Amino acid sequence: MEDWWITARSRSAQWYAGSDRNAYIHRAWMRRGLPSDAFDGRPHIAIANTASDLTPCNMHLNEVAEHVKRGVWEAGGVPLNLPVVSLGETNVRPTAMLWRNMAAMAIEEMLRANPIDGVVLLGGCDKTIPALLVAAASVDLPAVVVPGGPMITGTFRGATLGCGTDVWKLSEEVRAGTLSGEAFLHSESSMIRSKGHCNTMGTASTMGLLAEVLGMTLPGLAGTPAPDSRLLEGAHETGRLIVEMIAAGRRPSEVMTRGSFLNAIVALAALGGSTNAVVHLLAIAGRLGVELSQDDFDRTGSGVPLLVDLQPAGRYLMDDLYRAGGLHAVLNELGDLLDPKAITVTGRPLVDHLADAKVYDREVIRPRDAPLQPEAGIAVLYGNLAPDGAVIKPAAASPHLLQHRGPAVVFDSVEDLHARLDDPDLQVTADSVLILRGCGPKGYPGMPEVSNMPVPPKLLAQGVRDMVRICDGRMSGTAYGTVVLHVAPEAAAGGPLGLVRTGDMVILDVENRRLDVDLPAEELAARRPSPTMAEAFARPARGWQRLYVETVQQANTGADLDFLVGSSGDHVPRESH
Ligand code: FES
Repeated sequence: MEDWWITARSRSAQWYAGSDRNAYIHRAWMRRGLPSDAFDGRPHIAIANTASDLTPCNMHLNEVAEHVKRGVWEAGGVPLNLPVVSLGETNVRPTAMLWRNMAAMAIEEMLRANPIDGVVLLGGCDKTIPALLVAAASVDLPAVVVPGGPMITGTFRGATLGCGTDVWKLSEEVRAGTLSGEAFLHSESSMIRSKGHCNTMGTASTMGLLAEVLGMTLPGLAGTPAPDSRLLEGAHETGRLIVEMIAAGRRPSEVMTRGSFLNAIVALAALGGSTNAVVHLLAIAGRLGVELSQDDFDRTGSGVPLLVDLQPAGRYLMDDLYRAGGLHAVLNELGDLLDPKAITVTGRPLVDHLADAKVYDREVIRPRDAPLQPEAGIAVLYGNLAPDGAVIKPAAASPHLLQHRGPAVVFDSVEDLHARLDDPDLQVTADSVLILRGCGPKGYPGMPEVSNMPVPPKLLAQGVRDMVRICDGRMSGTAYGTVVLHVAPEAAAGGPLGLVRTGDMVILDVENRRLDVDLPAEELAARRPSPTMAEAFARPARGWQRLYVETVQQANTGADLDFLVGSSGDHVPRESH
């Protein structure tokens, strides 16, 4: 009999090689149509697939998976569909972020537990690519992402609609009385016109593009619209590529280095990407043991010019970015700001793939010397309101509010906000600073995207469209405004945000990176959190939420669970029989 099981060295061979009872069981139950030579040492490749009817942005990924499979077979591998936990941003309650770490943990464990040599990661909607990358980083098997791609542009009454961003704008217009409820409902069916994720520079677009900047996709694939046949071509090529990566032993830890993360921070700024990328990149880096801090986003990214004119900060949508030359054209503009040594899944440096990139529409992608904004990255603020930091995206803020002093109007929970915001007697002016607390990782729990509180109707009626808002939660990547978010420590973890009272003067000074309440240190130290805030923070009794609240870390380190930081590799020491 052949001695292939003796010489086969692949990880899957640890299950399949040999003539003992266990190898027999592993092979026999897997056959079901697989040819005998599927077990001759060929690489077995999982397609970690977040397709789900309840994640509408990822519904098309089963088709993408079929094209990955073709490439894998063609290159001599064995593709295996692995449905994994999926998260639909608009559906999952209380917030999809609560489940990012759960999805990542489940994916990590299934990748490690199964007889596979590498994995193709299929994601799209906001949390799915972060969860897949976090998991892949902890298992560190050869891995490559196929981003599901954005949907095509929505249109309504002759004008384009950006999904997400225009929901906020239209709903504000309804609240201001300048748009009828009927017209608002009509716009609903015009916004989502195709498969794919949100087409603004929201979190899904940002993380799909940053997956490529990190080096984790087939070069040139990220940003391909979901209905575009080139996505399927890329999926096919990715199937071939993962087989080659396994032969080369190219793992995420080799690809996602500090240089790759700094490249991602530079790209995040130039793209005008979502603030959510901060917590996701920090979590991925934490799994790899790459030294990365929130301050790196300010140090490396804050001086980078904004080159891409996409909603929510700008005018265009992802379809336009792809037509204008795509991610590579943007990265080519950045040139010297990128680490030339950071490699991709091809084994070659990212910058080597950019030489042929061209810009075809200078309205969408601006040149370095004529940017939309000279400094576009994320600013990290510190002060007696945020001892461990808070972030703001100045490019999405009103310039006149970046230096501001105003009286606080405090809300202890989202429910408190909803109950009082529309009250005509609410004591609030355009100079007020809205503060919403109880929305951090522990407090909500799950750190929802609620930081961009609506402007109170009485101010909307006066023409106010933006004001300073401060929160320990996150903000949708499709939202905009002068919003300070990710305040750490959060109020529910004892942060000073929980001590502010309505009427206290709050000082925002983005230029000097400060966020303070104008109170003597002794007074702040003597205060206790309001009883209503403590009431709103109910500690979950059981299940994932209890585990999450007891172990989740703060936003400034990526909101990962404390015992999940780091990597366990791909080794499983014990047999199952
Ligand atoms: Fe899925 Fe926006 S809801 S990406």
